[in-house]
Amino acid sequence: MIITIDGPSASGKGTLAKRLAEYLGFAHLDTGALYRAVALSLIMQKKDPSDVAAAKAAAQTLDFDTLDNPDLRDEKTGKIASLVAALPDVRAELLAFQRNFAKNPPGGKKGVVIDGRDIGTVVCPNADIKFFITASPEIRASRRLLELETRGKPVDPGQILKAVQDRDARDETREISPLKPAQDAHLLDTTNLDIDGAFEKALVILNKTGLFQKL
Ligand code: CDP
Repeated sequence: MIITIDGPSASGKGTLAKRLAEYLGFAHLDTGALYRAVALSLIMQKKDPSDVAAAKAAAQTLDFDTLDNPDLRDEKTGKIASLVAALPDVRAELLAFQRNFAKNPPGGKKGVVIDGRDIGTVVCPNADIKFFITASPEIRASRRLLELETRGKPVDPGQILKAVQDRDARDETREISPLKPAQDAHLLDTTNLDIDGAFEKALVILNKTGLFQKL
């Protein structure tokens, strides 16, 4: 059973994916962490994100078991992640791991929840259920601000809104795997929903699709 959750930066897709995976007893994969790990590797090697060979090598040598470095969540890492995510060589390197995770959920789990930008469109086009999560740029910027403040990394609110909008534009307009809803995705706008509200709405949608009868 494969559930995909795509959407723009700080739309709440990661939190929803984690909650749904816990609730259903499924494995969860945050694919943004893979692109962030490639970015962090380049930052640590002091390489430029336009260096395609270095980015490809970073993706090839990625240790998928160590995706928990807190620096992965830094705003700078997110920005560089969206730059390297536009490189076809990097995406190609990361595709097999994501598809294998979907096909063979770790821990013998009976399903997966995978979140990202292109999961319903490119990585798992035959997924059982697809979500596309949105929220206004202002709300998403305020969520990101809160996340960074909570981690002791306060930033200028104006800068964050611009960073969110720049990243949206880059992710939506790139040639390879642009951010867009799959045709058969369920759209969920979380602008006026908190985490519990988004979770409840997602459960209603899952119920309507008959997912619980299939489990
Ligand atoms: O946490 P946030 O929603 O801000 O971003 P993320 O999901 O961690 O993704 C970071 C960046 O990786 C995005 O801006 C995308 O450019 C890229 N990404 C992608 O291209 N494809 C994915 N499946 C996941 C992330």
